[in-house]
Amino acid sequence: MFYEPKDGHGLPKNPFNSLVVPRPIGWISSLDGDGNVNLAPYSFFNGVAYNPPTVMFSSGHGQVEDDGMKDSLRNILETGEFVQNFSTWDTRAAMNDTSATTAKSVDELAEAGLTPIASTLVKPPRIMESPIHFECKLVGTYDLPNTTDNNKYTVVFGEAIGVHIADDLIMENGQIDIAKLHPIARMGYQD
Ligand SMILES: Cc1cc2nc3c(=O)[nH]c(=O)nc-3n(C[C@H](O)[C@H](O)[C@H](O)COP(=O)(O)O)c2cc1C
Repeated sequence: MFYEPKDGHGLPKNPFNSLVVPRPIGWISSLDGDGNVNLAPYSFFNGVAYNPPTVMFSSGHGQVEDDGMKDSLRNILETGEFVQNFSTWDTRAAMNDTSATTAKSVDELAEAGLTPIASTLVKPPRIMESPIHFECKLVGTYDLPNTTDNNKYTVVFGEAIGVHIADDLIMENGQIDIAKLHPIARMGYQD
């Protein structure tokens, strides 16, 4: 088949999510200006530069709060900091739980039974259950051009100014043990 997205795809569900797979999952912790913790997964996520190491995630806008922004985006715009917590097979259920739409004051990290640990260079906490953390400073955001209010996306770029790696993941040859890491990724639809 061939389709022009502007004219629709003619399938029961939009296939796009299943056409860019597997996608790593950014599991983003942030704080609002009052220090309230927020945690949420973003699979429009990736590394985009080696040096300095830089990641990005894309946040859809919605009707959650009056400003239409998801809490992660609002917090990062307010404070300029976030943490990327590596998402593994063992944390998949908790990761999914933290995608719940909640009031901005709700601490999804605590709600999901996860353990906050202090970061070294930024204020948002890391998740103890996650084996790799990027402490990130906001580089900038980019609002994608859009056609309707329901299809707004803001891409957030962050520089990893501090990187934590669980020591037992580093093999004798100095490389990361990917098999031990058990990464998970977003496949199509709900997979
Ligand atoms: C695996 C997974 C991947 C997701 N990826 C994205 C994404 O890339 N962009 C997005 O806007 N929402 C994504 N979501 C939905 C957000 O996690 C959800 O809207 C969440 O409530 C946002 O939280 P926040 O308002 O605390 O930032 C994803 C959810 C799951 C479970």
